[in-house]
Amino acid sequence: MALKVHHIGYLVKKIESAISSFEKLGYHITQDTVYDDIRQVNICFMEKDGYCIELVSPASETSVVSGLMKKFKNSPYHICYETENFDEDYMTLVSDGFMAIDSPTPAPALQGREVVFLTSASVGMIELIRS
Ligand code: NI
Repeated sequence: MALKVHHIGYLVKKIESAISSFEKLGYHITQDTVYDDIRQVNICFMEKDGYCIELVSPASETSVVSGLMKKFKNSPYHICYETENFDEDYMTLVSDGFMAIDSPTPAPALQGREVVFLTSASVGMIELIRS
C-alpha cells in the first residue's frame, strides 16, 4: 500500500471559535466551512507547516459525530490517508483487521471524492480517501 497522509480530523464543538483559536496558533483556512448534508456536519480545512487539519463540527443531534463529541470533546480523532488504489487498499485493510464503520461515500467537503472510515482496536479510527 502507498498511503499518503491527507489530513488530521479534529472534532470541535463550535467551528467558528475553533477556527479563531487555530488562527492564533498560525493555521490558515484553505477551504471555508462546507455543510456535509450526508453526515450532518460542518467541515473546514486549515493548514500550517504543510500539515492539513479538518475541523469537523456536529450540525445536529443526529450527526455522525454527535456521539463521538460526547466521548472525546474537542480532540483529534482520525487520520485520513489518500490512495490511488482505493478499492484494493480498502480490501487489504479490511483483511488486515480494520473494520469498516461505513461504506465508501462521496464527501461534499472534498470535491465529492469517495471516503470510507475504518477502525482498528490498536490505532482507532482512520479514513481512506480516493486519490
Ligand atoms: Ni477526515
